Amino acid sequence: MSKIRAVITGVGGYVPEYILNNQELSTMMDTSDEWITTRVGIKERRILKEPGAGTSYMAVKAAEDLFSKVATKPEEIDLILVATTTPDYIFPSLAAVVADKLGIKNALGFDIQAACSGFIVALTNAASFIESGRYKKILVFGAEKMSSITNYEDRTTAPLFGDGAGVVLVEPTTEEVGVMDSLIMTDGSGGKHLMLKAGGSANPASYETIDKREHSVYQEGQYVFKHAVTNMANSSGDIMDKNGLKSEDISWLIPHQANLRIIDAVVARTGVDYSRVIINIEKYGNTSAATIPICIWEREKDFKKGQNIILTAFGAGFTWGAVWVKWGY
Ligand code: UT7
Repeated sequence: MSKIRAVITGVGGYVPEYILNNQELSTMMDTSDEWITTRVGIKERRILKEPGAGTSYMAVKAAEDLFSKVATKPEEIDLILVATTTPDYIFPSLAAVVADKLGIKNALGFDIQAACSGFIVALTNAASFIESGRYKKILVFGAEKMSSITNYEDRTTAPLFGDGAGVVLVEPTTEEVGVMDSLIMTDGSGGKHLMLKAGGSANPASYETIDKREHSVYQEGQYVFKHAVTNMANSSGDIMDKNGLKSEDISWLIPHQANLRIIDAVVARTGVDYSRVIINIEKYGNTSAATIPICIWEREKDFKKGQNIILTAFGAGFTWGAVWVKWGY
């Protein structure tokens, strides 16, 4: 009997209309287009402005986009995995909120918290659920309203983040396509260098946590940068070496979009031609777990069946890794 693999069979995405560019940011804090462009590679980011709208607003729009393109109906979905750091609520899960808004009644749904690496962790989980034979039609989201945890008085983090959502449909196949291999890791000793300090059970919300701005991203940029470079570059290289893949075998490299200089280091380690590297950081900034599915959504039309794609990410935890996908359609 041939092996069951998990293959991506559809993609959807959504980014908010409002564009916050570097010029506007420069009027809000002591920064400049020149600094942000040369140090990070971002020109603009999307911000969700709809009153009362949380991350589910964008995840639902992404799913509606997906369902407009695939034969599968919402009622056929049997599992929903949502990678997010910015759920609408601590509970219920974003997966539950999204399921309700999409009218999905026959599915298990839960969130996966692996920060910026969330999508590759969720996709790896989806692959295991499919390979086990237990689930047949899985929605895997990466969706974030990073503006809700960004301090717009902090020039060291505010320029970095944006809002958006992407989703893929994952189904079983016996063809030699789909999620072929995955290397993902966690090192909790990195936790204190990139975190949201308050609002959890260790440090619940209080007047003091609000005064100290502890409900927005805290990041030691240089420390995180070094670990992101090393771990994204090594995990991408390792998954290629393990599977005998040479740089010329890789049709597309899709790195997490946190910093163009980190992406350049991953490109150097893998040897993949720059024309094969998917980059949209200049338009959307770092949308955390949503960067990779938004890249897939934007470039879906360029992919061909059987092409080798490497996804790689690094985020809070620390978590990081790489996934080798053979495109399925
Ligand atoms: O996605 C999850 C994982 N996160 C990441 O991968 C992010 C990793 N880190 C980074 O991408 C970079 O460290 C940052 C983009 C966050 C910062 O870039 P950097 O080159 O590491 O800058 P730095 O923190 O070393 O700061 C250099 C200088 C400092 O000034 P002094 O001390 O040299 O006078 C900062 O105060 O740049 C200053 N600076 C700014 N200047 C203008 C910091 N932010 C800004 C700003 N505009 N927005």
